[in-house]
Amino acid sequence: MTAKAGKFIAALLLGLTLSTSSLAAEPVTPGLTDKLSQLLQKEMRAVQAAMNAIHPAMVTGQHETVAENAQQIHDSFILQQELTEQDRKDLMSAVPKGFIELDKEFHKLAASLAEAGRKENTMEQRQIYSEMTRNCIECHGKYVSDRFPGVNLDKN
Ligand code: HEC
Repeated sequence: MTAKAGKFIAALLLGLTLSTSSLAAEPVTPGLTDKLSQLLQKEMRAVQAAMNAIHPAMVTGQHETVAENAQQIHDSFILQQELTEQDRKDLMSAVPKGFIELDKEFHKLAASLAEAGRKENTMEQRQIYSEMTRNCIECHGKYVSDRFPGVNLDKN
């Protein structure tokens, strides 16, 4: 992460902490601008492709492939992309704090997975991969229920 991106994220998170955000989990998708929606979908497709590549690499011990793909997920962090001032405002008003926190946690896990790949630690990779999958499900179930109504967060 560049220092500039770091500052931007810090400012963004501060702004979100100060602003009142609703606790109710409502779909975020209808409130996104076309540009943000397209960026997010593009990021998601890249994330999905990387997750698909990681699974066989992980179970066959191709640690470098695990590390490379996990690193790519980490680096695709939507909040680090070139967003204009207006995009930032649009994003802040469209998504609740919980969404940003999940996104942050998810990309942190991706960095940990890349590290586990570099350490050639298969068991750690398995654990982190499963935590990341939990993140996909939680975010889609809570915030993208309009597009993915089949994601069921109930335990039974
Ligand atoms: C912090 C929230 C969040 C997390 C975490 C998350 N997603 Fe998503 N995902 C979204 C949103 C929001 C959309 C819908 C974007 C839209 O339609 O505007 C989406 C859409 C998608 C899509 C459809 C993309 C398309 O072409 O429209 C796929 C595939 C996807 N996610 C895969 C994943 C996978 C795999 C993971 C975990 C490894 C994941 N997502 C984690 C928020 C998230």
